[in-house]
Amino acid sequence: MTATLFTPTTLGKLQLKNRVVMAPMTRCRATGNVPNELMAKYYALRADAGLLIAEGTSPSPNGLGYARIPGLFSADQVAGWRKVTDAVHAAGGKIFVQLMHTGRVSHPANMAAEARILAPSALAAPGEMWTDSNGMQPYPVPTAMSDDDIATTIGEYATACKNAIDAGFDGVELHAANGYLIDQFLNTATNQRTDRWGGNVENRIRFAVEVAKAAAAQIGAERIGMRISPYGVFNGAVPDPKMDALYLRLVEELNAVGLAYIHVVDHSSMGAPEVSPELKAKIRANFKGKYILSGGYDAARANADLDAQKGDLVAFGRPFISNPDLVAKLQSGAALTPPDMSTFYTPGEKGYTDY
Ligand SMILES: Cc1cc2nc3c(=O)[nH]c(=O)nc-3n(C[C@H](O)[C@H](O)[C@H](O)COP(=O)(O)O)c2cc1C
Repeated sequence: MTATLFTPTTLGKLQLKNRVVMAPMTRCRATGNVPNELMAKYYALRADAGLLIAEGTSPSPNGLGYARIPGLFSADQVAGWRKVTDAVHAAGGKIFVQLMHTGRVSHPANMAAEARILAPSALAAPGEMWTDSNGMQPYPVPTAMSDDDIATTIGEYATACKNAIDAGFDGVELHAANGYLIDQFLNTATNQRTDRWGGNVENRIRFAVEVAKAAAAQIGAERIGMRISPYGVFNGAVPDPKMDALYLRLVEELNAVGLAYIHVVDHSSMGAPEVSPELKAKIRANFKGKYILSGGYDAARANADLDAQKGDLVAFGRPFISNPDLVAKLQSGAALTPPDMSTFYTPGEKGYTDY
């Protein structure tokens, strides 16, 4: 009998050879914010997955909050990503890119001089972040976005979607999780606006929905998914009593846009609080596109959850870092190599292409 995880499926108009997804993972190897040959090698080595979702990639100079993360707004970046998508396609894989605007999760030392640190409200993220020039630094207070800033940023997402297709990607995942810009609009801890972009549920989902609409108008909704993290606490996100209502309204709106998939983060295996199983089940029941499960999966749990219809595909993160041949290992039951956390975000091939 073939376990469900290794059976083919579809996503939008794409045929996927199995239901194993490589979760998006920031690896900070994009020196100068431009993708390179080393990244092409890394992704191509993992092309046995049914779908690769490339790491968080900024649609704007203002969204490059971390050191050495890639962008998708300049000609150089499009050309760099083209190397990656060509290598993955030559190896028989399919690849989406995750569009991640870091918003307030940023530091001037990581950004170009003219870039701006923008967020729904002028509230600094708690804690510190890494900068290559000055080590750990406290998060600065971001600039609260004006209506013009919001319109410009939505336009940047749309252009980045077009750039993604020009760069050869099969589609785009909008990162609305983990406390980055879109999630900063969803969450009451980061969005204290009193205009049409903040306050009630309808207003807090507006940015996510407008980005999804602009992206769909540019490249078609069947090539777009969204990643969400209800009950997540990363980067200062805080659950609130309206959380279930907010995500269910968002799902309704995403149905209307016709997105291909929703990708639900669950970082309880990394020490984060549990994500309400009731809400996950309701999102599953209400969302019309595909549902990607993620967080702490092994083959047995993945097959059990697929068989129980909890989702259609399963994303694996850390196991893919240290096991480029993860699909074969999951299938054969071979032992997995554990990842070396000390090289998750360091430059170069060590801990990247040498597993
Ligand atoms: C090094 C590293 C980088 C990550 N970067 C991203 C990212 O850019 N975007 C994102 O949505 N999630 C990111 N994540 C979260 C993963 O996509 C995934 O949700 C998490 O690792 C849990 O899955 P796992 O238990 O299979 O590792 C990252 C995780 C790790 C370990």
